[in-house]
Parts: sequence; C-alpha cells; structure tokens
Amino acid sequence: MGKSVTLKTLIDRRRKGEKFACLTAYDALFAGLVSTAGVEVILVGDSLGMVLQGHDSTLPVTMDDMVYHMACVKRGNRGALLMGDLPFMSYASETQTLENAAALMRAGAQMVKLEGGAWIANTTRLLAQRGIPVCAHMGLTPQSINRIGGYHVQGRDTDQAQLIIDEARVLQDAGASILLLECVPRALARTITEALEIPVIGIGAGPDTTGQVMVLHDLLGISPITPRFVKNFLAESSDGIPGAIEAYARAVKEGTFPAQQHWFE
Ligand code: KIV
Repeated sequence: MGKSVTLKTLIDRRRKGEKFACLTAYDALFAGLVSTAGVEVILVGDSLGMVLQGHDSTLPVTMDDMVYHMACVKRGNRGALLMGDLPFMSYASETQTLENAAALMRAGAQMVKLEGGAWIANTTRLLAQRGIPVCAHMGLTPQSINRIGGYHVQGRDTDQAQLIIDEARVLQDAGASILLLECVPRALARTITEALEIPVIGIGAGPDTTGQVMVLHDLLGISPITPRFVKNFLAESSDGIPGAIEAYARAVKEGTFPAQQHWFE
C-alpha cells in the first residue's frame, strides 16, 4: 500500500469525495493479507465473539480477548490503520473507559470504536481530549441486541431516523473522528454522510458513505449466516483469498460494492 494510512488519510478521502475500505481481521496472517490488498482500515471487531469464538452475540467478548487479537493483528499489519472495538460494558465508567482504551492502544490500536448514540458523547469527548481517536458506531449496535430485540434495520421510521441524524451530530461535536453506520436505509446513511464533516463508514447502509466495512468471514463466504448486505468475494476470485480481498477493496473504491441487492431502501 506504500505509506501507512492515518486518520488524516481518511479525512482527506472524505474531503476529496474518495472512498476507502475497511475489513475485519483478528490475527497476524490475515492482517498481513488485508493490509497489502488495498484495504485502508483493519477493524479488530468484537464480531470475533461470533465468528471466532462461536458465541451467538458479541456480549461475552472481554478486554483480554480484544487486547490479544489486537496485538496479533499489529504484528501482521503492513500499514493499514488499526481500529479496535471496546467490548460490551468496557466503557461503563470513566476510569474503565480510560484504562481499557489505553490497553487497546498499547496493544496497537490507533482508534477505538464504541457503540451508542448521544449517551456516549461524554465518553467520546473524554477519549478525544486525551488523544484517542473515536469511531462512534450507530444504527444497529450489536452490543445492545437484547434491548433492540434482533438484528433488524434501524431508522426506518421518520422519528427514529431523525434521532439517529441528531445523535450523529452530537457525537461529531463531542469529538468523534469517524462514524460507523450499521444496517440503516440508504437514504438515511446518505443524509448523515452529507450532514457530517467526518468520514462515515457503512455496513448495510448503502453506497453513499465514505467508507465500507465488512466482516472478513462474510467476504470469504464462510460465515454461518449471510445477511443481505454481504457479498462472497471469494466465490468470484481467480486468485484465492488475496484476490478476494483485493476485489473487495477495488469494488468499494470504484463504487461497485455495495450494489442494490446489498442495501435497504
Ligand atoms: O465487530 C465488528 O466486526 C463490527 C462490524 C460489523 C462493523 O462492528
């Protein structure tokens, strides 16, 4: 990829109207493949609880799990920006937030991701003021699955959509460097992307966000469940796994992924 990707790289992409790709990885081998295939951001996601550990949600994932996988990914990374999830209940108090974010940064993260709406504004501010870039994850937030009641599209009705728009602004104002939108209608993701100055990464949020993110195992077609917004890039690859990851990164930047069958109107 040449020069290492930084937050500034992503902000510049947003300013120039260029797209970037983000993909999960959880170990050194895949971090090497992903970072040399044209993917700008590696997310060490708490999705590892489902895809690696076999849980039926992300709730059992611990800080120790996240630190271990982040350290593995850091060893294999060749220049992608490393973003790490703060797992369920690891940012419930200020002290916990600071200690846990610091542990993830020491393990190699360059940005942390937290799930929530306006209620994470103070946490976002706390971290941003101490030099830790924050990605705020909104829309479908898997750590709240028991309150949401299922992996459903969020923001379908006008009031809910307006709330997500308002809360996204609150988080940008609190110092979030990036917003991640999961499973929201295309029009809502477009409105938020246009309304905010920071880059917006989407998953199941249509083609208009600055970046796209996907879970590695979904891209490889080996996840037990395949949501609508997933594409198996390995099925079409003539160059195995590296070719599939390259095709994903290319498709995101050329705007051919996601296609209409991958988003919600
Ligand atoms: O944990 C994760 O991998 C995520 C992505 C699904 C965005 O949060």
